Amino acid sequence: MAQYDWSERNIRDLAGEGKDIALHTENLDVFYGNNHSIKSVGMAFEKNAITALIGPSGSGKSTYLRSLNRMNDTIQIARVDGKIMYKDVNINSNDADVYEMRKHIGMVFQRPNPFAKSIYNNIAFAIKQHDKSVTKAQMDEIVETSLKQASLWEQVKDELHKSALALSGGQAQRLCIARALALKPDILLLDEPASALDPISTSTVEETLLNLKDKYTFIIVTHNMAQAARISDYTAFFYSGDLIEYDETKKIFTRPSLKATEDYISGHFG
Ligand SMILES: Nc1ncnc2c1ncn2[C@@H]1O[C@H](COP(=O)(O)OP(=O)(O)OP(=O)(O)O)[C@@H](O)[C@H]1O
Ligand SMILES: [Mg+2]
Repeated sequence: MAQYDWSERNIRDLAGEGKDIALHTENLDVFYGNNHSIKSVGMAFEKNAITALIGPSGSGKSTYLRSLNRMNDTIQIARVDGKIMYKDVNINSNDADVYEMRKHIGMVFQRPNPFAKSIYNNIAFAIKQHDKSVTKAQMDEIVETSLKQASLWEQVKDELHKSALALSGGQAQRLCIARALALKPDILLLDEPASALDPISTSTVEETLLNLKDKYTFIIVTHNMAQAARISDYTAFFYSGDLIEYDETKKIFTRPSLKATEDYISGHFG
C-alpha cells in the first residue's frame, strides 16, 4: 500500500506550528514472535488534544496503543523496538522506571475492569498504591472530583460504598475512567472505551473526554468513525501494522491524501 513518511512530517509539522507534543514514537516496531505487528511507526501526539487511532481489525491499533505505556511487557512473546519519547526520556529503554511512567501515562481498557471493591475504594485503592500519605478528607475530595470528571458522581454519590461490580457496563467504564483520572495522568490511553456501551453512555464518555482535554492528552482507539470524527483533533489510519495516514481529523474525513484512507472511512473495506 502506498505510504508516506509520516513520522518525520508529523513531528516537524506539529513542532513547526508551535504545538506542544506530549509524546512521540520513533521507528517503533512490535513483534509477537515472528509476527511483525507494528512496522516502524513514528507518530507525535499533540498535548491537550484527542488523537484517534482507526483501522480494520488486526491492523495493530491496540498493539501500538499498549506499547505506549509498556503494557506489552506483560506479553512474553512481544518485543518492542524503537523509541517512545516522553519528556525527553525514552520510556522504552530497559532502565526506564515503568512504574513511575504509568502514573503519567494511564490506560483504560475496552472491557471495564473495576476492582471487586466499593466504588469509593476503587479510586482510593489506586491512589494509595501511589501515595500513602493522603488523608481521609483529601481522599473524599479526590473521589468526588474524579467521579464528577467522569460524569458518574450524580448517579453514585449516595452509594459510594456499594460494590463496583454492581454497576452497569457504562457506569463501570466511567468508574474506570474516574480511577485513571484520579491519578492525574498527563496522557490517557483508551482502547475502544465505548464499544460495550449504549448510545447514551457513549455520548457521556465522549463529552467527558471533550470536557477534559484542556487538562489531558487523550489517545483513543475506536472502530466508530462517527466517534472519531466527533471528538478527535487528529486521526491516524493503521493498516496491517503500518501507519498509512495521519492528519487533522477534519482533513482525514473530508479530503484524505490516500485512496486507502478514503476507502476505509467510507466503509469500503475493513
Ligand atoms: N497477545 C498477542 N499475542 C500474539 N499476537 C498478538 C497479540 N495481540 C495481538 N496480536 C497480533 O497482532 C496483530 C495486531 O493486533 P491488534 O490487537 O493490535 O489489532 P487491532 O487493530 O487492535 O484489532 P481490533 O480492532 O480487532 O482490536 C494481529 O495480527 C494480532 O493477531
Ligand atoms: Mg484492538
